Amino acid sequence: MIVLALESSCDDTAAAVLGPSGILADVVWSQDLHARWGGVVPEVASRAHAEQIVPVTRAALAQAGLERPDAVVATSGPGLVGAVLVGLSFAKGLAAGWGVPFLGVNHLEGHLLAPLLETPAPSFPFLGLVVSGGHTTLYLARGLGDYVTLAETVDDAVGEAFDKVARMLGLGYPGGPKVDALAMTGDPRAVKLPRPRPPEGAGPLDMSFSGLKTAVRTSIERTSPTPADVAASFQQAVCDVLLDRVKRAAAETGVQRVALGGGAAANSAIRAAFLASGLEVFLPPRARCTDNAAMIANVGRLRLAAGLASEAGLATTARPRWPVGAP
Ligand code: KG4
Ligand code: ZN
Repeated sequence: MIVLALESSCDDTAAAVLGPSGILADVVWSQDLHARWGGVVPEVASRAHAEQIVPVTRAALAQAGLERPDAVVATSGPGLVGAVLVGLSFAKGLAAGWGVPFLGVNHLEGHLLAPLLETPAPSFPFLGLVVSGGHTTLYLARGLGDYVTLAETVDDAVGEAFDKVARMLGLGYPGGPKVDALAMTGDPRAVKLPRPRPPEGAGPLDMSFSGLKTAVRTSIERTSPTPADVAASFQQAVCDVLLDRVKRAAAETGVQRVALGGGAAANSAIRAAFLASGLEVFLPPRARCTDNAAMIANVGRLRLAAGLASEAGLATTARPRWPVGAP
């Protein structure tokens, strides 16, 4: 089965083609026009998707040398609803026109299962840590569509914390890659920062990053450290929290395989920390950590093949919130 997938849930317009032997096309158009506002402006994102969705889709079909796929899938949530609707509606139109099946895909399931596109791929069960701009969740992935949430952030997502720290350092948007680059020349022990524990009432493995962000601000104001030292020390604190939770989850579940996904899994320090952790770690290449359509094609194809079509084909609508694995 050859699947065409579209992704437009935030600020990347993406199309990919996946066949039985792997990815045949993978096109991502990143909207850099949000930098002047310091963050993604939903209306601007939707308009840019509407402009780019046709050329990006055409480019993917041309790259794959394909005229008509066997199925079309698209991200139908969670995400910015106006942005999701652009890719979703266009994908449904294509499926209706070609007379092929359509399936709406959960963006977070895309990140969670993106490591399955690589060789070697993790086999189920594995611990899946999704660290993106809007979500930070640790799952126990027991099988396709069978996910247990072990922990999540009670406030900021990891990518969001990176973006906020980048703003404090005047690095601009998107902040994660800029903090990552700056941290290369900094000392991760130079600025003393907390490793916040979850507040009362949260789960034992839950995470909190807003206190860390506030501590970064206080340190900048009180001791004027170098921006590189701030970046490196902040990254180290994030790594320590993530590794602590994943190691404890591994001990509790007996599952030593860990797969990372989501934009912040592109971070050099996070990647290095997990690779040195002694766990069996699966890391997609950086371009498959940040938003892309190959990961959506992957979930779509797996679900279509397994008869796990959770959305009602062409009646699918955009879902701003959609927990992974929920019908
Ligand atoms: O998964 P993603 O592309 O989109 C969402 O689904 O949210 O994640 C975007 C997030 C942004 O917050 C961005 O700053 C962060 O991932 N990010 C990074 C890096 N590259 C992207 N954070 C830290 N280091 C990076 N190298
Ligand atoms: Zn994402």
